[in-house]
Amino acid sequence: MVKGSAVSKHLVIFESSGKKGYVEDGKTLLEAAQELGEDIESVCGGKGVCGKCLVKFDKELCARYGIESGGQPLSPPTEKEIELLSRHGFGDEYRLACSTIVLGDVVVFVPEMSRREKHVIRKSTVERVIPVKPAIRKYYLELSPPTLNALAADYHRLAAELGYSFGLRIVGIDYAALSNLSSVLREGDWKVTVTVWMGQEIVRVEPGYIDGSYGLAVDIGTTTVAGYLCDLQTGEVLATEAILNPQVAYGEDVISRINHAVTEPDGLATLNRVIVDGIGEIIASITRKAQLVPGDISEMTVAGNSAMHHIFLNLNPEYLSKSPFVPTIAKSLDIKSRDLGIGLDKSTNVHILPIEAGFVGADNVGVLIAEEPYNQDEMVLIIDIGTNGELVMGNREKLLCASCAMGPAFEGANIKFGMRAAPGAIECVTIDRQSLEVKFKVIGSDEWSTASSSVKAKGICGSGIVDAIAEMVKAGIIEESGRFNRKLVSPRFSITDEGPAFVIAWASEASLGRDITVSIDDVRAVQLAKGAMYAGVRILMEKLGVTELDKVILAGAFGSYINKENALAIGLFPDCALERVYSVGNAAGEGARLALISLDKRREAEEIARKVEYVELTVEPEFQKYFVDALHFPIPNELNSP
Ligand code: FES
Repeated sequence: MVKGSAVSKHLVIFESSGKKGYVEDGKTLLEAAQELGEDIESVCGGKGVCGKCLVKFDKELCARYGIESGGQPLSPPTEKEIELLSRHGFGDEYRLACSTIVLGDVVVFVPEMSRREKHVIRKSTVERVIPVKPAIRKYYLELSPPTLNALAADYHRLAAELGYSFGLRIVGIDYAALSNLSSVLREGDWKVTVTVWMGQEIVRVEPGYIDGSYGLAVDIGTTTVAGYLCDLQTGEVLATEAILNPQVAYGEDVISRINHAVTEPDGLATLNRVIVDGIGEIIASITRKAQLVPGDISEMTVAGNSAMHHIFLNLNPEYLSKSPFVPTIAKSLDIKSRDLGIGLDKSTNVHILPIEAGFVGADNVGVLIAEEPYNQDEMVLIIDIGTNGELVMGNREKLLCASCAMGPAFEGANIKFGMRAAPGAIECVTIDRQSLEVKFKVIGSDEWSTASSSVKAKGICGSGIVDAIAEMVKAGIIEESGRFNRKLVSPRFSITDEGPAFVIAWASEASLGRDITVSIDDVRAVQLAKGAMYAGVRILMEKLGVTELDKVILAGAFGSYINKENALAIGLFPDCALERVYSVGNAAGEGARLALISLDKRREAEEIARKVEYVELTVEPEFQKYFVDALHFPIPNELNSP
């Protein structure tokens, strides 16, 4: 304690930040925190309503700092404080910082949940701590009603109070929030919760105190649309949902979708409507899972490849597919949900991640901010395999990106018995080198399949086709050139009207009533896909002047299920130690989630989208040569470097 001045001062130490200093006797702990730069959550601005400013008082902690706390360094809890703490399920070791007055030297512990800036741990190829800094924040206000002596208009009264209590410089209010502002203020008896976007725009005003702040991140994939419902205060994912992209009915790949949008009457409007409806389905089901309602979602972020991005925004995607492949807009966008027809509160903002270049879209930006190759010294290759293979290579010095037209072989299309990764799809194959007998697993069963298995094979998905072909190469069924070994003697091998084929599942093991085979055309489709990928990687390596990769990251659903050894065996990417090959799942969706909970990540997305250099592979003179070179299958033990 410091005496001698008119007002005595007390030492206050905040654990675990260690921030400390002297504050005047009679200040609250919340005021002390504000003075000393300790960032404690206070949605209600210290009115004892929100219960967010929790701190812990612990005598042992004081003793550790050599502070004698024989007397009472803090004011006793009021009835209102006790009631609020017990309503939130907290015991008497907790105090509300805004209701607790400093009477002596004291050390208080600030738990993680009370810190204004929270963190999430992003576990991927490396572990990172990401501060939770959403664009949306809620504030509880108790306003003085207007009188004949205080005639400020309702909006100005509200904006002024947000400035006074929370230091915000409000510059506007969404029209939907404005249209019922006066009645909401009076309904709430001038006590309201205000939702503010980016610290400047009022997007919603609700009567009374409303707890909780939620957002939705959506990744619009060509095949799958995934949603992540997040708590914007903690960054936690509360629920997830995924649906088949309903545009699949109008074409499996982006080119057929663009064609539909461009050539069919109302084609774009139809594709736009079905994806907006699909997102509506996700919203309904994901909020139900989290016991919320769609109106509880205060912001949404969207990632998607360039075609999905344009169609979602109702922008003509025609020029994405025509040289020089230019998008309508590349920067990020914030658009009201009502303008997009999304069934959220009308004033909710939808943030769309930026695009890098024609075919390298906002999904790839999502992958970048999730994996951060621009913060690494190692030479990283990121492969996101879909109907388009998107490649990013580089490190903190330089990053290049490219798009390979691989065809949809790895999504199960263009393959005679190909199918999406769904129950019944063969996902894993092994072939005995001597007997050429095949064992396989299907999605929906953990066991190796037999004729008596309950889940019969329906077809082969992307990871299954990689396995099947890699195993056929290793077993000598397919030669280095991709031709079948015609000297093969096996009941599984036959020359059909469509050329040679090898049986993976006998009719008795399949639900189709016929054998499931890999044909010469299937092998060719895989050769073309992996050849394009490998040639693209080789061009990027040359441009960066590197001969080796330190790390290969496989993103996307395909990357999650693929057998890395077999991917390497068919020459999908250059040689890299297997333990340095990582599958990271839906990194684009993860990027959309990070952009939802962190403005830092949103800024990073904008910067990196402009910084990454796009390489148009089709105009590279060596591309065709490298592509042809890469069509062959590496024979076992062959050095697989370019
Ligand atoms: S700041 Fe809201 S209860 Fe203390």
